[in-house]
Amino acid sequence: MRSDRFLRACRREPVDCAPVWLMRQAGRYLPEYRALRQQYDFLTMARTPELAAQVTVMPVDRLGVDAAILFADILLPLDALGRGLSFAQGEGPVIARPIRSEADVAELPPFEPWEHLGYVMETIWLVRRELDGKVPLIGFAGAPFTLASYAVEGGPSQQYRHCKAMMWQAPQLWHALMDRLAGITLAYLRAQIEAGAQAVQLFDSWVGALGPEDYRRYVLPYSRRVLSGLQETGVPVIHFAVQTSGYLELIKEAGGDVIGLDWRVDLADARRRLGPDVAVQGNLDPLMLLAPPPVIEERVAQLLEQGGSLRGLPGHVVNLGHGVLPDTPVEHVVAFVEAVHRLSRQAPARARETTPQEATD
Ligand code: CP3
Repeated sequence: MRSDRFLRACRREPVDCAPVWLMRQAGRYLPEYRALRQQYDFLTMARTPELAAQVTVMPVDRLGVDAAILFADILLPLDALGRGLSFAQGEGPVIARPIRSEADVAELPPFEPWEHLGYVMETIWLVRRELDGKVPLIGFAGAPFTLASYAVEGGPSQQYRHCKAMMWQAPQLWHALMDRLAGITLAYLRAQIEAGAQAVQLFDSWVGALGPEDYRRYVLPYSRRVLSGLQETGVPVIHFAVQTSGYLELIKEAGGDVIGLDWRVDLADARRRLGPDVAVQGNLDPLMLLAPPPVIEERVAQLLEQGGSLRGLPGHVVNLGHGVLPDTPVEHVVAFVEAVHRLSRQAPARARETTPQEATD
């Protein structure tokens, strides 16, 4: 059933067909979103619950996806902490007051999610009411490393020089900052769940800049604190760490019920490495959605095979390997979602035809 197949796949339970949603599905490739953006800037939209709820729900019927993802941003907590967030046209996010010293960490105020980001909780409440059980709502936050990357660098980065300098030259400062960010992220995700998020995703978008040893020492303990702290909520948690196929085992060790995978890894291989006790999510290259629908469909068939959906292996959520790109044609996204459902639904039907029970019916 559409309403529960995403959560069932996260828990590795049998499904009627493979669930699918897209990272960044609530955004700029949608003409309705761009029309609304003519009137309001991005932060105004994120901070206004009625607008944020409207954008969250926008793609659900248009695309036929099996989950909604909250319209917000991983950087909102940095804004709430007074570091000055803005989005420069075409240049990505800017943090006006980066965190680089002990004094910067010490002056971070206590973080109270309901007080600082109450508008996010209100958006969740509005979305749940609007969706009325049609599909579940996914909340999210940035993982400690990815948040730190913006907080320390002051914006997007190629090499993460300031972060790596802090890790290797001022490790105590790095650990103090990561400790604060882990606490903030955990409190923020717990609040989202209390407000009504039915699953949450932790985005570690830029951690692939680190090798396995640095991940193990400087990041894993903090991601693990967030992920294990969410276990008691009983809500499925997706752990998505981009460009980490070299150390997927460490990503699993950090935690998560579902491991998000980008396209740089073979899905069947990744499932073998991760083992049967976690689900996976992914992993179509977002640029593939610019190709003609027959090409997309052929790749979907392969993805379903590799992910195990055609063999009745539970625990595959179909998604892209990273966010949908702004120049993606909406019809191609619709074709992708439709192909996932149609091709994965055939599998159990074929299997059923051969059961002895049905043969005698
Ligand atoms: O997925 C969704 O549709 C829900 C909303 C969502 C946004 N950002 C809205 C947004 C989510 C889940 C995010 C997460 C996010 N934000 C991540 C992790 C995911 C990833 O892609 O790795 C990161 C790294 C950010 C930080 C961020 N926010 C950047 C780098 C940018 C600017 C570059 C860009 O993609 O435009 C943003 C702005 C942003 N966040 C937009 C949207 C829809 C674009 C704002 C606009 O309309 O101009």
